[in-house]
Amino acid sequence: MEHGRLARPAQQAVKKGNELAKPKTKKPDWQMPGILSEPVEDYLYSMLPPRDEVLAEMEAEAAKRKIPIVGPAVARILHQLALMINAKTVFEMGSAIGYSTIWWARAVGQGGLVFYTDGDRKNADQARGYFERAGVLSRINITTGDALELLSEHKQEFDIIFNDVDKEDYPRVFRLAVPRLRKGGLFVTDNVLWSGKVAQKNPDKTTSAILEFNRLLYDSPDLFTTILPIRDGVAVAVKR
Ligand SMILES: C[S@@+](CC[C@H](N)C(=O)[O-])C[C@H]1O[C@@H](n2cnc3c(N)ncnc32)[C@H](O)[C@@H]1O
Repeated sequence: MEHGRLARPAQQAVKKGNELAKPKTKKPDWQMPGILSEPVEDYLYSMLPPRDEVLAEMEAEAAKRKIPIVGPAVARILHQLALMINAKTVFEMGSAIGYSTIWWARAVGQGGLVFYTDGDRKNADQARGYFERAGVLSRINITTGDALELLSEHKQEFDIIFNDVDKEDYPRVFRLAVPRLRKGGLFVTDNVLWSGKVAQKNPDKTTSAILEFNRLLYDSPDLFTTILPIRDGVAVAVKR
């Protein structure tokens, strides 16, 4: 993983006696507490090594403009999963300013390729600048439009498909994505616990779509799935 000058994380819990004291700074929106207990979540974030200048700037930008990036705790999972299966091709659905894309791109290394997709051209322009500064532009294919359509246009199989689009589309993404993964490939999805709403009664339309999606993941004979309850919940499914 390439590192430039290291910047401090946006917010760190401070150890005080036997307890973690509440951080003095306001938590960035992307941290999304609510699934794990707050002290445990704070502890996990306090363990994270500082990010380089580009990623730290993106985290600050996302917090300022309320861009829902995965944040560093989940980004590390993405990076680690790619390293674990020696992934060389990643198709990312919903890339925004490219924060998660950079973590994928650093994991696939030289010769790897990450497909950035987003519906907003302005996001893509901004992401390109970050990719250049992060030194990973050459391993990222940037396209704008509907990520589901863009995935359908690619005929190849991918090592990893990462799903972070509008949540109501998740069941449709399931049907499109699974056939496009190689055997042993990973289908990774963010926000599958939806701030805990998946466990509440009378789900709204968005929560119902996520519930249907999670059921599809666990019931599929083609996948073996686990939901990691970190931040807003990350589903990791390996294709059999
Ligand atoms: C949660 S953000 C992505 C954050 C990014 N994965 C990260 O962690 O850095 C979701 C993004 O997906 C885009 N999006 C949502 N639905 C989409 C679709 N069907 N096709 C393309 N982009 C979509 C939105 O414009 C938004 O920028």
